[in-house]
Amino acid sequence: MAETAHTRRVFSGVQPTGNLTLGNYLGAVKRFVEMQKEDCETIYCMVDLHAVTASWPGREAIKDATRELAAAFIACGLDPAKSILFNQSQVASTTQLAWVFNCTARLGWMNRMTQFKDKAGKNAEAASVGLYTYPVLMAADILVYHATHVPVGEDQRQHLELTRDIAIKFNNDYDAPGFFPVTEPIIEGAATRVMSLRDGTKKMSKSDPSDMSRINLTDDADTIAKKIRKAKTDPEPLPETLEGLEDRPEARNLVNIYAGLAEISPEAVIAEHGGSQFGSFKPALAELAVEKLGHISAEMTKLMADKAEIDRILGDGADRAAAIADPILEKTYDIMGFLRSR
Ligand code: TYM
Repeated sequence: MAETAHTRRVFSGVQPTGNLTLGNYLGAVKRFVEMQKEDCETIYCMVDLHAVTASWPGREAIKDATRELAAAFIACGLDPAKSILFNQSQVASTTQLAWVFNCTARLGWMNRMTQFKDKAGKNAEAASVGLYTYPVLMAADILVYHATHVPVGEDQRQHLELTRDIAIKFNNDYDAPGFFPVTEPIIEGAATRVMSLRDGTKKMSKSDPSDMSRINLTDDADTIAKKIRKAKTDPEPLPETLEGLEDRPEARNLVNIYAGLAEISPEAVIAEHGGSQFGSFKPALAELAVEKLGHISAEMTKLMADKAEIDRILGDGADRAAAIADPILEKTYDIMGFLRSR
């Protein structure tokens, strides 16, 4: 394992593909901020190379989306002095390690990736090879830093299992016991899978055609409150026990969102609000959401006014990231026996 003064090295990534949602916030970014306070070295990446696997948004669009994601990270509480913040394409060792892992991962493993099946849809023949090997690049993202812990939402669980399989197989195949750590996913809390506000059986997603289905971190206070007021629910009051939320996906989702934002358990939400009508629960949730999220969009706008400063932060982060990653890639090549003569 790489030398580190911390007991845990945390890595995670988010795609710069437009607005972050409340799902990204509760499932990932909020956890990233919490881990900054613990005895952790924290590395957070805007995965721009992943963001072109489905389609290319355009030259300026990807730059702006990357800067906007950096602004969102900082507005949510990530501190570039405490965490390494950078965009993936600035550290070349990642894609070099991804090639090695392309030769480690097995086709059988890749064929089981459910997110590829979902994203490729019916016409998988037309999907890019990059979309197919996306989880291998993700493993390289994590392991090129010898990261030990990865905070993510529930939808990334399978990719992190693949990352563990790749680490174990590499260590076995090249007779390098313990070289790559077997990374721990951190998928914790009440809101690891935030659902759409219009359909409690569908994940909240930036790509949903209905803007009312999600809360964006760029939404102002009035918009956040309106979306919660209009969220789909059923006619029953909130149940008195957690079991009463079974088969009530919309109600369960709002309880989980409340719990995630208030940093309490869903049981505690039910203890406080069980028996309430949505007419009183929704305003309480809207008030909480505005309190926790309402400041983010104004803060992002302020940060986006100085793009040169964002670029500087990401450049500095990339230097610090490369200083960790490059020696790990070199060691990997050495383990494999690639000739180094310059
Ligand atoms: P991405 O950009 O789709 O999502 C970023 C993070 O947000 C979480 N998330 C959610 N959590 C709860 N509820 C939701 N509705 C919801 N929607 C998204 C995701 O689980 C994720 O943690 N493949 C990754 C990016 C990546 C990465 C990595 C992550 C690339 N390399 C290395 C960790 C480590 C992705 O597409 O995330």
